[in-house]
Amino acid sequence: MKLLVVGGGGREHAIIKKLKENPEVEKIFALPGNGGIAADAECVPIGAKDIPAMVAFALEQQVDYAVVAPDDPLVLGAVDALNEKGIPCFGPTAAAAQIEGSKVFAKDLMKKYGIPTAAYESFDDAAAALRYLDTAEMPIVVKADGLALGKGVIIAQTREEARQAVVSMMEEGMFGQSGSRVVIEEFLAGPEVSILSFTDGETVVPMVSSMDHKRARDNDQGLNTGGMGTVAPNPYYTEAIAAQCMEEIFLPTIRAMKAEGRPFRGCLYFGLMLTPKGPKVIEYNCRFGDPETQVVLPLLESDLLTVMRATTEGTLAQTEVKFSDKSACCVILASDGYPQKYQSGFEMTIAPEALPHAFVAGAKLADGKLLTSGGRVIGLTAVEDTLPQAIEEAYTLTGMVHFENAYCRRDIGARAMKAFKEA
Ligand code: AMP
Ligand code: GLY
Repeated sequence: MKLLVVGGGGREHAIIKKLKENPEVEKIFALPGNGGIAADAECVPIGAKDIPAMVAFALEQQVDYAVVAPDDPLVLGAVDALNEKGIPCFGPTAAAAQIEGSKVFAKDLMKKYGIPTAAYESFDDAAAALRYLDTAEMPIVVKADGLALGKGVIIAQTREEARQAVVSMMEEGMFGQSGSRVVIEEFLAGPEVSILSFTDGETVVPMVSSMDHKRARDNDQGLNTGGMGTVAPNPYYTEAIAAQCMEEIFLPTIRAMKAEGRPFRGCLYFGLMLTPKGPKVIEYNCRFGDPETQVVLPLLESDLLTVMRATTEGTLAQTEVKFSDKSACCVILASDGYPQKYQSGFEMTIAPEALPHAFVAGAKLADGKLLTSGGRVIGLTAVEDTLPQAIEEAYTLTGMVHFENAYCRRDIGARAMKAFKEA
């Protein structure tokens, strides 16, 4: 079989490595992939958002199945365009991808179907938003409506900060069109849990739970990033909470999307906050999370391609999806300075023992050498019997990768370890 995977980060590397475990897979094209992915797939210089070129390439190569991993092409309709030409795909249609593409859509869906989430108001007029802030309780959360690379969320401690966030998004165009509408919502507190799920529009199968570390610096200081590391499973997510989430959140969401005429097929990501009043949805993503995928897929024991095709064909209820009961930890090595200014172009070396554990996010090949080319450069994942062992081993692996301005958080997994002490 010939597969095509759209995207070029650590998530896509993890997906490609897992897909390759199926002996029927003869070839994988990555569009555009990256210098590290090139060891596992043929990288083709077509951007993830260039849908016409993507479709033409898929037809020319007669690919049997495509996986569209990033949010942008999904929201832009890559799956619709590939399906139209008869190419089966993993991922939601553009209509279903609105669950991530518009926060207003997602919030209104939750309100309409009684799915627990933070109380909110949405605004497309800055003056009205500012008036609302005059009497709202602080802290409060201001979110740009559209896609903003995970950076369109501002948690304001004071009224002044909240006003500033509204002005930057709605009047100064900080996130372009994405910020012309905003959601202002109640601040929630509690441990965060990421649940990726497979769904065919009817059946939903949650994957092993995970925990992201979004802030750049130790102890959750510094700016929000795409994610600096992950652990799985997430010890805060007990079986009782899982059952409650299935009943109150996962199934109602899948049914709501179907009822709205936007059945969701692919990977639906539930970003949850475990509040004192029960689990609530912080966000939906219409795709695998990154770096969550870098701990979740290494724990998947079933064949990924089989499960993906079941979501496309509507046969997920009859398909086994099994996860190992081990623990995984992924530590991201980034270019120091990320998510703001950083230097790149440094040579990266990876010891052979670390290669099977490495998911490359930002590197390119030049004369056979890997040169860093992004903020997040590489993820190193360890799978062990227990979480402390996985954490220790993941940090050992980071010692086997070298580039000049490498930076990582030193406390990935520390918050999860606290859950055991609190229990
Ligand atoms: P999002 O892009 O919606 O996932 O938001 C990014 C991060 O902001 C989340 O992972 C949370 O840590 C935080 N966040 C978002 N919404 C809220 C909220 N209502 N209350 C507290 N924190 C939030
Ligand atoms: N790690 C969070 C995300 O992928 O959106």
